[in-house]
Amino acid sequence: MMMTASARVSRPVSRPASRVARPRVTARAAPSSDSALTTDKAKPDWAGDDFLSKVVDAAIGNELLYENVMKPMARRTLINTAEKNGVRWRDIAAELEADPAVKAAYDAVLNEDVAYPDYYLKPFHAYAEGNLCWLAAVEAEPATYSMALRVYPKERITAEEAQRRLRDSYTDALRAHVEAHGAGEPETIVDVGCSVGMSTRYISEAFPNSQMIGLDLSPHMLAVAKRRDEGRPGAERRRWVHGLGEATGMADASVDVVSLAFVIHECPESATRALMTEAARILKPGGTFVMTDNNPKSAVIQNLPPALFTLMKSTEPHSNEYYQVDVEGLLEECGFEHVHSEQTDPRHRTVLGSKKK
Ligand SMILES: C[S@@+](CC[C@H](N)C(=O)[O-])C[C@H]1O[C@@H](n2cnc3c(N)ncnc32)[C@H](O)[C@@H]1O
Repeated sequence: MMMTASARVSRPVSRPASRVARPRVTARAAPSSDSALTTDKAKPDWAGDDFLSKVVDAAIGNELLYENVMKPMARRTLINTAEKNGVRWRDIAAELEADPAVKAAYDAVLNEDVAYPDYYLKPFHAYAEGNLCWLAAVEAEPATYSMALRVYPKERITAEEAQRRLRDSYTDALRAHVEAHGAGEPETIVDVGCSVGMSTRYISEAFPNSQMIGLDLSPHMLAVAKRRDEGRPGAERRRWVHGLGEATGMADASVDVVSLAFVIHECPESATRALMTEAARILKPGGTFVMTDNNPKSAVIQNLPPALFTLMKSTEPHSNEYYQVDVEGLLEECGFEHVHSEQTDPRHRTVLGSKKK
């Protein structure tokens, strides 16, 4: 199996956080139109402690409403958006589910000693078992294509092109930071929360001399990552590790880049801090931390229609904390310098910092 992505994607087209984000975004050569893509408000009204947020949370907290209306609606919305845009969601999932090599990859990556933190065991993305189940793993790739398509809704681009654009904006920001701060070409890059390996492969492609470690808490996701990578160019440079981002087991000062793409929104603030502390420990002096995720200041995110933000919140248990956490401030507290944020696409920010020398 393991067709190329382009073959599979046909066409076309809660606890309140203790810190509140400081308005501090230093844009690197952002396209001029980007300034219109953010607002002066620190976060959307539908997240955090605002009245609207509490109303939404109360609706989500109604189990009957959540199980019978929101959950099925969230799934339907995701699958329909994908399939309308040529992403063969159900076919991809069925192919992966039936592939015995995926199960073999699971056995190869599984680390029985991994202990899952409580915050990770919550339902995510309308899966009762969150990231720890086969359905979430076999649907992660089409869901990721669908996510990128939503970033560029008015552009007639393929799912593959949308994904490429999203990933290029991230790796371009990383390269610019590395060059601006004289970090040198990275030799070892860790992609924490690599899921099914899409972020890992794009980063690996952008830094073709690097060794990559894709690390994730979900052995199901890693099984798909490992299987999908078989026979791909550069696969020999990529390793898949089942582990906790907060306690990687890697040696002190042993890696050049730690990346967290679309991971922090799945974490409470305490875990975000622990992930940054661990990144600072394993990074070499001058090494680079980079993360991307929803931008709380994005006009698109702040102005989502109520049906969409309710569905989105209903599938992300740590949303309220994510939208309030001061990512840049935490990074500085954890020993990073040259910390700055960029709006890298209409919905997302990329935050970078260098481990102090
Ligand atoms: C939305 S996915 C990230 C996708 C991927 N990085 C990409 O850009 O396509 C988030 C992933 O983070 C993983 N994750 C969440 N918390 C983690 C932690 N503390 N340590 C390791 N992995 C974690 C989840 O299992 C999930 O696979």
